[in-house]
Amino acid sequence: MTRSPAPLPDGLGDHLRAVVGGNHVLVDPELTASYETDWTGRFSGRSPAVVRPGTTAEVAGVVAACAKARAPIVAQGGNTGLVGGGVPMGGELVVSLTRLTELGPVDTAAAQVTAGAGVRLADLQRHVRAAGLDFGVDFAARDSATVGGLTATNAGGERVLRYGGMRAQLAGIEAVLADGSVLSRMSGLLKDNTGYDLPGLLAGSEGTLGVVTGARLRLVPSQRNRVVAVVAVGGVDEAVELLAVLRQRLRTLEAAELFFATGLELVRAHSGMPAPFAAGHPAYLLVECADRRDPTDELTEALADSEELVRDAALATDAAGRHGLWAYREGHTEAINAEGVPVKLDIAVPLAVFPAVARALPTVVSGAAPHARTVLFGHINEGNLHVNVLDATDRAEEVTDAVLRHVAARGGSISAEHGVGRAKLAWLGLSRSPTEIAAMRAVKRALDPQGLLNPGVLLPPPSCE
Ligand code: MLT
Ligand code: ZN
Repeated sequence: MTRSPAPLPDGLGDHLRAVVGGNHVLVDPELTASYETDWTGRFSGRSPAVVRPGTTAEVAGVVAACAKARAPIVAQGGNTGLVGGGVPMGGELVVSLTRLTELGPVDTAAAQVTAGAGVRLADLQRHVRAAGLDFGVDFAARDSATVGGLTATNAGGERVLRYGGMRAQLAGIEAVLADGSVLSRMSGLLKDNTGYDLPGLLAGSEGTLGVVTGARLRLVPSQRNRVVAVVAVGGVDEAVELLAVLRQRLRTLEAAELFFATGLELVRAHSGMPAPFAAGHPAYLLVECADRRDPTDELTEALADSEELVRDAALATDAAGRHGLWAYREGHTEAINAEGVPVKLDIAVPLAVFPAVARALPTVVSGAAPHARTVLFGHINEGNLHVNVLDATDRAEEVTDAVLRHVAARGGSISAEHGVGRAKLAWLGLSRSPTEIAAMRAVKRALDPQGLLNPGVLLPPPSCE
């Protein structure tokens, strides 16, 4: 039986309709359903309404109305989050930012652009590439993920190696605070040491400190020439060793991704893609180099000089060939989901212990869920492994506990790039000290004294500690 959402507090529905117009306050379950369940299907809730403001002023009006009515809200972008941080699991009102699609002209002198929270990553990329620049963040969900979501979660992705994560791309931010006031720091000044770094604080706050409505974004040079290689290696040790060589030799290195035989088989079964090599191999390192001059020769030479590590390699320089090679890596998320609802964990460990951790994790998972299947892949340069566990939804807590404790004991992070959300709430103390949690809680209390912004996400309720 489907649980009904709590009704909207008296008068709030009328107030919201007055702010955004009746068409943008959705209450029909058929219309609200896609906002209530996350992409994986693991996290789901019911919302009394989905509100779709079209401007920052409307977002401010919505948040102010909710503050007055003491109605909690969840801000949502493209709903591609993977930790249950963007869906109304506590019956919150959903504020969808997807109508905030304003995209300013590219400021080529400053190499910056202003984008609304609802601008999709792929649209942003097309827009700035047409002006001869590029954006430093990229990942597989680019067609759905939005600037607001990227900012609120401090998204990482495939180019952190060269450009850093989303926080590093921010030259400014606009956000609506819990009382409906608008915080706007969009001048794009890269030198402005005037107090606390509020844009940096809001980035990665997972909707708990404010609703991001727009961002001033730094852009990077567009690299005309690209080469992608999938390199077959004997295991994780070899992958880490090869990465070190490539990082030393290749100024043009932009991405370094890792996947394994199990993941490749799943991707191939799901997509029908051919095998990249005649023989199977234990692990695969995907690397991309990009430059204004053709970086193919320097990559080929570096691989040839590392023949003791390279079992086989497939290279592509044309767009179709490059996308074909990337599909082996980017196809993992969809192929895994096609097998069932996964328990998705997202950890990072120092590279010194990365091979040992990667080798141990399947056994750690089996100890908690004997029939589970573990699929690992990730962003090797940052020691970031996505631990995807299939056939274990009934043992999700045990699997999460075992994996996160193993990682934390080796100096790792329980949340490399996806955020804490609700999925890792109970384990926050493994990665953050009591002093850090108390400081975070003080910030939350100061900016959201009623606790209305994404309650139950990132910080456990005080009663649970
Ligand atoms: C990725 O690296 O592809 C994303 O983080 C998505 C995922 O972990 O499934
Ligand atoms: Zn990732």
